Amino acid sequence: MAHSRQRRLFLGMAMLAFLAIGPARAAQSAPERAALDLMPVPESVNLRDGRFRVDDSLSVGGQAAPGDRAFGAAARFMSRVAARTGIFLKQDFLAARGSAADGAVRYEFTRPGKLEPLEDESYSLIVNPGKVVLSAPTDIGVLRGFETLLQLLSSDQAGYYIPCVEIIDRPRFTWRGLLIDSGRHFQPVEAIKRNLDGMAALKMNVLHWHLTEDQGFRVESKVFPRLHELGSDGLYYTQAQIREIIEYAADRGIRVMPEFDVPGHSTSWFVAYPEFASAPGPYAIERRFGVAEPAFNPADERVYPFFDKFFGEMAALFPDPYLHIGGDEVEGRHWDANPAIQAFKKKRGLADNHALQAYFNTRLLKILTRHGKKMVGWDEIFQPGLPTDIVIQSWRGTEALVESARKGYQGILSNGYYIDLCQPAETHYLNDPIPSGSTLDEAQRKLVLGGEATMWSELVTPETIDSRIWPRTAAIAERLWSRPSVRDVGDMYRRLAVVSLRLEELGLTHLKNQGMMLRRLAAGPDIGPLEVLAQAVEPLKNYQRHSQGVTYTSLSPLTRFVDACAPESMAARDFRIKVESFISSGDRESAQELRKTLTAWKNNHTLLLPLIARSPALKEIEPLSLTLAEAAETGLTALAHIEKGEKPSPDWAEGGRGKLNEAAKPMAHAELAVVRAVGRLLEACAGPAGRGPVRDIM
Ligand code: ACM
Repeated sequence: MAHSRQRRLFLGMAMLAFLAIGPARAAQSAPERAALDLMPVPESVNLRDGRFRVDDSLSVGGQAAPGDRAFGAAARFMSRVAARTGIFLKQDFLAARGSAADGAVRYEFTRPGKLEPLEDESYSLIVNPGKVVLSAPTDIGVLRGFETLLQLLSSDQAGYYIPCVEIIDRPRFTWRGLLIDSGRHFQPVEAIKRNLDGMAALKMNVLHWHLTEDQGFRVESKVFPRLHELGSDGLYYTQAQIREIIEYAADRGIRVMPEFDVPGHSTSWFVAYPEFASAPGPYAIERRFGVAEPAFNPADERVYPFFDKFFGEMAALFPDPYLHIGGDEVEGRHWDANPAIQAFKKKRGLADNHALQAYFNTRLLKILTRHGKKMVGWDEIFQPGLPTDIVIQSWRGTEALVESARKGYQGILSNGYYIDLCQPAETHYLNDPIPSGSTLDEAQRKLVLGGEATMWSELVTPETIDSRIWPRTAAIAERLWSRPSVRDVGDMYRRLAVVSLRLEELGLTHLKNQGMMLRRLAAGPDIGPLEVLAQAVEPLKNYQRHSQGVTYTSLSPLTRFVDACAPESMAARDFRIKVESFISSGDRESAQELRKTLTAWKNNHTLLLPLIARSPALKEIEPLSLTLAEAAETGLTALAHIEKGEKPSPDWAEGGRGKLNEAAKPMAHAELAVVRAVGRLLEACAGPAGRGPVRDIM
């Protein structure tokens, strides 16, 4: 099976992947901001003297009643403050309207917000020593403001407080989404809910729920029950569960837009309904990944009444005004091989398969319109002939976003936000839907609604999905909410570290599951050396894991060492920054810290060997661990040379380069994230003559 998603994306991302990483800068132009850990950065922050003390007398009041969205947010605010501080609050935070109308924290809004694009999510927050006022035109703005207030909660010697501040805030983009692919790997209700909590904490407002794939049909259909019965291995959401999730999201100001990917990526539908496919069946649920060939038959009139009924059912189930029809990666081989489809194309004057897909989409658009939905699709659906009230989601590049805006279409950007590629947060952070050099005019810019991070789930399970989404998606959330000038990468990482812990506090498992997975691998509780290695390692990027000699399927375990490693190693980033700082300044303190880190890596292998000896599942990481130790040794020698001001022998330098080039290669489906920085040390001591292979890995 082809891997064209993989190939195309790899090309798309290659340019972004090797951005130079500069040393961390301490602060940005507005110094007060740097002192706060707010993420996304609000539109304006005016920090004042004074503190609003948070103690057991904290009271919250507002105009909402139990069952209202803002009341729920106020109650969650109280319980989260209590949980973080351990304070036994006197106010019953579930108190009904009126009982705390004059709470020290007062929230007010003018009207309930609508869950649709362009809704007002702005808010203002005024914190004085005795009073906090959160006001917003809509209750959705109130929700956003409560998240800011929770991020402001700080502590000092005297206890907990919120700094006195005036904040005025509104999002730059109205569509700030996360795609969760429940098709390739089913994600249970709890996994979706905790990620909705994470999204709300970062002020994201669209869950794009990818519900059907070659590997699974994940929605209960009461009209066509064989779809989920035969197409899901029993892993699907009941309609009651779907409603529960929609309500949970709505309570957090998040829209839920479903995606039913057609005409391709549709094998699981054909298990029940082979007659709608372009090639004869029978069909089985696809286990492999990539671009499968089965596709709906656009020339078969029976397909459209089927979709009319199915989308009618789904349109009633999902209240969002938008419905995503996918439309990506239709290879058309089954269309080409079907004489009836060829004859149909000829009769209709459809020049090629793009025109055939445009015909199919036009029919679908009529169906969706009849059921009151606006159509969204991947950029493949951007074809001549479709009206401008569809929304184009650009994933193959940014061109479709620009071109479609020029032609009057609304668009959302996902190219550059593919979090499944395991790229650093910085790469996504600097990817702007409307970059500074954009030639779009004002009216065209308004058509760029925002963007979505995409959590494709070939290689994620409920156990690992949070670690592939968070904390990096917080950087995307900031890009989509904050002003374009908010681009200080060092400050973003400083705040990301804080956000990561707060996400864990909310129930996300991105940090704690690593320990659990390593304990399982070690078959014991003592995982110190495994953790040291895991922190120096990142999973292979850009879908390289699919070309390591084994075939991943939807049934493969994702429980190996690589799966426990975070997509972006903060230890490696810190090391890299220290190396650059040492190379540019030569200061002794950096040298000391580098020596400590390198020594720990060098010694780790001996400590890890007994664990590996005990656990067959760890056997594959022995070369990885040994290579880390050797690279660290090279780094220590280079460091010593630099400190002494001595040049190493050409032989040693050449040998070191060779070793580091080997060390940069994939091992156990992972890569050592620290090798390039060790290479910088070697280059620094070997001097300009070091224009050797080491440069190739940098
Ligand atoms: C996609 O990644 N095939 C939309």
